[in-house]
Amino acid sequence: MRKPLIAANWKMYKTPDESLAFLREFLPLVKDHTRDDIAIFPTMSSLAYVIGACKDHHVDVGAQTMHWLNEGPYTGQTSPTMLASIGCDHILLGHSERRIYANETDDMVNWKLKAALAHGLVPIVCVGESLEKRQSGLTEAVLRWQISCALNGIKASIPCSITIAYEPVWAIGTGSSATPAQVGEAHQIIRREVAARLGQECADDTRVIYGGSVKPDNIATFMAEEEIDGALVGGASLDPHSFADIVRYKE
Ligand code: G3H
Repeated sequence: MRKPLIAANWKMYKTPDESLAFLREFLPLVKDHTRDDIAIFPTMSSLAYVIGACKDHHVDVGAQTMHWLNEGPYTGQTSPTMLASIGCDHILLGHSERRIYANETDDMVNWKLKAALAHGLVPIVCVGESLEKRQSGLTEAVLRWQISCALNGIKASIPCSITIAYEPVWAIGTGSSATPAQVGEAHQIIRREVAARLGQECADDTRVIYGGSVKPDNIATFMAEEEIDGALVGGASLDPHSFADIVRYKE
């Protein structure tokens, strides 16, 4: 049985003060919520503050990116060791905005995934096709390629700590989400590819979550799909009441 994960990706929003103001409102709203796991991915400058504020709450905290090496002359980068040392427990890898604007390649996602697992960080690997690829009938090929590259050389383990986030690029920040049926179909493709790489038992244990214009008024329809194990929320996670409404969706 896979426990759902509802995660907030704050992208490049919120100063440390704004992050803490969010948590002062949000944490009381979800204090009794145990049905789903909850995680927040703040900016690097807010990370240590958010980790401190969430310490005694059942809310996990992760970084939005990292380097794959432990240290070195890489200006602007943060290593997995550094993240783990401040109590960061999750890491977002291969988000399409990183792939598009920071030239993150499939190989880098694979190196980072190996580093995350080696340092005990819980990885969320993002995959998803562009509108052009979907319209060319290449959705399955893109998803299978991204998953197979990310998992190259990874050994299966149970429980499987890897979460995959399906985020079709055309649905991110556009207000027009994919339909639950489209997402369900994509998640089946992803799970089949995970099974091909890591075995069926590991695939059955892998959470596959959806991201792309998830909001309080559509989360329940996504969560009703058997194949959808949670959500990665961008814009609608920036307001504490909106994100709490998403976390506490009614089944
Ligand atoms: O990581 C989150 C996704 O990019 C979705 O963003 O909810 O603003 O569409 P969005």
